[in-house]
Amino acid sequence: MAKLKPNSAEARDVLFHLHSQTNPDLHAEVGPLIMTHGEGIHVFDAGGKRYVEAMAGLWCASLGFSHARLKAAAAAAYDRFGYYHSFNHKTPDIAIDLAEQLVALSPIPEAQAYFATSGSEATETMVKLAWVYHAARGEPGRRKVIARDRGFHGSTIAAASMCGLPRMHREFGLPLPGFLHTHCPDPYRGMRPGETEADFVKRLAGDLEAMILAEGPETIAAFIAEPINAGGGIVVPPKGYFAAMETVLRRHGILILADEVVCGFGRTGNWFGCQTVGMTPDMAALAKGLSSSYFPISAVLLGRPVREALAAMNRAGELFGHGFTNSAHPVGAAIALETLAVYREMDVVAHVRAMGARLKAGLQAIAASSAIVGDVRGEGLMIGVELVADPASRTAFAPGLKIGGRFDATALENGLIIRAMGDTIGFCPPLIIDETGVDAILDLTARTLATVEATCAGRTGQAAE
Ligand SMILES: Cc1ncc(COP(=O)(O)O)c(C=O)c1O
Repeated sequence: MAKLKPNSAEARDVLFHLHSQTNPDLHAEVGPLIMTHGEGIHVFDAGGKRYVEAMAGLWCASLGFSHARLKAAAAAAYDRFGYYHSFNHKTPDIAIDLAEQLVALSPIPEAQAYFATSGSEATETMVKLAWVYHAARGEPGRRKVIARDRGFHGSTIAAASMCGLPRMHREFGLPLPGFLHTHCPDPYRGMRPGETEADFVKRLAGDLEAMILAEGPETIAAFIAEPINAGGGIVVPPKGYFAAMETVLRRHGILILADEVVCGFGRTGNWFGCQTVGMTPDMAALAKGLSSSYFPISAVLLGRPVREALAAMNRAGELFGHGFTNSAHPVGAAIALETLAVYREMDVVAHVRAMGARLKAGLQAIAASSAIVGDVRGEGLMIGVELVADPASRTAFAPGLKIGGRFDATALENGLIIRAMGDTIGFCPPLIIDETGVDAILDLTARTLATVEATCAGRTGQAAE
């Protein structure tokens, strides 16, 4: 902390503020990057430097950082009703409108919407509802949850247990018992030499079934998956993956939970990610794009069988013992309703498909003239670029080289914010991005890649694990 000016905002941040997903010692050394405001797809730091925010913050600010209609909706909502809740039969009126609209959009038939305030709460709520579902149907022993390696489902205890990322477990002695992980369906890293995509899918479904049989189907409540993994490195499953997995899961009476926290609301070129990948969930968790993150609001969509089980469980007059103070918050509901209205008016699905195609084609063109791009993958405006030492053999860079981190730092210098997940560079810009914005990302990416490539010339890689 010696370098930071005493009593500066940087020094005060280091003293008083514990950051998420940040190394404490390193933070004390380098200090924070202080952001002050946003304009469209751009954000500005305290020194006035402008950045293209190609990650929409944390995969969430789909309408950018200064949307006039969302600001106005928030102001009007605060003017009318600063707070109310959904406990004990009460509800703010506007939450009914939002629930109705979500049900109309829902990929799950005859759904109801349950509101919470974060993605983690939404994924954990799905777990509790899965337990209720089975208990109400006479199978209280079904408690285990199968998640996947490299999945991300949040930071609270069960949500973190469902994550398939060691960094979410290491400090905390997680996962909790009963939270299991099957393979990540990553064709680039997971397919064996000579294996076709169809063979790969068959193997993944076979290994899932072997796990279910070894654990005992009567002990397993649910399977959870992001349609396209976000934080695990933007992994698009191979064709037929969810169909094959679901055949196994249905055979054993296991509920299917979609984590749509990132993929929902147009991100992948459909309203929901499950529509892009052919997944047919029993419940879905929504957050982020629901309000473009202008308010901490999330939701669970639950289908009729789960609703009926919940009602049956409480038939003796008991109540659903679950809820958050800010569930169905009227200001959050108003902002989410306005966000949905903007998505409809901009025809978010068509717009994302067009902008996503331009971004992906541009990144593929950059990759074609680069010696260190191994894979460009993604759907809609959710694209990953995996950097490797040798594209021909898919040999990864030695982790110690921190090539992804180097790309991140160089991009930042160039005024571009991306997300390095290991050596995979994530692009997940606000959905309002236009051709000019996409081209700006491509220019800055090409420039950043050229610098990084020059620094790793002659470095030898190391085979991926
Ligand atoms: C796929 C996915 N699920 C759940 C979450 C957790 O959301 P939150 O941080 O709002 O709890 C995230 C957060 O990034 C996510 O990416």
